Amino acid sequence: MMPVLLILVGASATLQVDLLSHKKFLLLPPVNFTIKATGLAQVLLHWDPNPDQEQRHVDLEYHVKINAPQEDEYDTRKTESKCVTPLHEGFAASVRTILKSSHSALGSSWVSAELKAPPGSSGTSVMNLTCTTHTVVSSHTHLRPYQVSLRCTWLVGKDAPEDTQYFLYYRFGVWTEECKEYSRDALNRNTACWFPRTPINSKGFEQLAVHINGSSKHASIKPFDQLFTLHDIDQVNPPMNVTVEIERNSLYIQWEKPLSAFPGHCFNYELKIYNTKNGYIQMENLITNKFISKIDDVSTYSIQVRAAVSSPCRMSGRWGEWSQPIYVGKERKPSVEWHLIVLPTAICFVLLIFSLLCRVCHLWTKLFPPVPAPKSNIKELPVVTEYEKPSNETKIEVVLCVEEVGFEVMENSMF
Ligand SMILES: *[C@@H]1O[C@H](CO)[C@@H](O)[C@H](O)[C@H]1NC(C)=O
Ligand SMILES: *[C@@H]1O[C@H](CO)[C@@H](O)[C@H](O)[C@H]1NC(C)=O
Ligand SMILES: *[C@@H]1O[C@H](CO)[C@@H](O)[C@H](O)[C@H]1NC(C)=O
Repeated sequence: MMPVLLILVGASATLQVDLLSHKKFLLLPPVNFTIKATGLAQVLLHWDPNPDQEQRHVDLEYHVKINAPQEDEYDTRKTESKCVTPLHEGFAASVRTILKSSHSALGSSWVSAELKAPPGSSGTSVMNLTCTTHTVVSSHTHLRPYQVSLRCTWLVGKDAPEDTQYFLYYRFGVWTEECKEYSRDALNRNTACWFPRTPINSKGFEQLAVHINGSSKHASIKPFDQLFTLHDIDQVNPPMNVTVEIERNSLYIQWEKPLSAFPGHCFNYELKIYNTKNGYIQMENLITNKFISKIDDVSTYSIQVRAAVSSPCRMSGRWGEWSQPIYVGKERKPSVEWHLIVLPTAICFVLLIFSLLCRVCHLWTKLFPPVPAPKSNIKELPVVTEYEKPSNETKIEVVLCVEEVGFEVMENSMF
């Protein structure tokens, strides 16, 4: 570092001597400096070299200073420069001509330009904007096998009038799209947006720009911009086809990579084996997609896996969603059979209600004998009771049955 610095200082010194010997040499500021919004949260800075600038045999460059919304500075040889940044607070920058590598030592005066902040008080802007992306199967498989869905939610600005309506736009690269599927709050104001398919590339490094503006009859609604990094907001899908087999005292657990544009080697997995009997949770961090665990065969287990993209493929992000739990072990039947239990239970419930209604009719006829002939059929009751055997899986339905019976009986007793 020191030698480089010394050389630089030396070079600068000789230049100064050189320039001093040519008294008339002047660095002139660039001309026609403009800042133009070229997209959502994106501006283009452009200037022209000063036509009166003497070239001689020196290398000229430009020193750009961003003043707002966030300070930044850099040197460039080009006469334009693109910046990606939120624009709801406006944008301001300055530029001057410098001698290459001289940094601030020798430079022209500055020229400045700015984009005014859009109108509206900041309390009218949306708050707490969050967005997430999900990989989905593409509808045009011939183009790309996967596409990405985008969902954003926000809160209405605290000073926004009741008639405020918000509109969301996103930009990814050169692609800009307006939201078409909003969710609304009680006052019919848009508070969430869903894009089922977007050209967002989840493997990309480019930032996602989201812009929400709005309108109201009573106030100007200040727009709001936010930039998102894809690895921060991408919700990795759960691993697919999780299978669990028990062989003697071992659990053999396997799964496939999540639905994702990333290949299999890009994933880390977290496995959760929950012993439902003693509440013990075993967590495993894995880079393979299988695991064998020793178990005691009197317990029951719930098994879930989740995935995250690992760092060689992308900046490692958050864990994705857990897979649906799979239950194995004694007592508890696998969750797949659940719906096979629900159907008979539902039939049982309907029959029970039906028979109770008949019984009510019957009671009625007993209390008021001369009414037309009853249609009740008490024979159905024993049939029903056969279905009433309680089992673990049908707890909710059974309880419902009991409550309904109690209710009916109460009603009966009021007669
Ligand atoms: C500055 O802009 C004006 C008007 O657009 C143009 O006529 C002129 O040529 C530009 N100057 C330079 C040095 O390009
Ligand atoms: C919204 O964000 C603010 C600050 O970022 C936070 O204090 C507040 O709890 C958030 N509100 C909700 C409802 O999430
Ligand atoms: C919101 O922004 C979009 C994109 O910049 C623009 O086309 C639209 O006119 C704006 N709407 C309002 C109400 O400001």
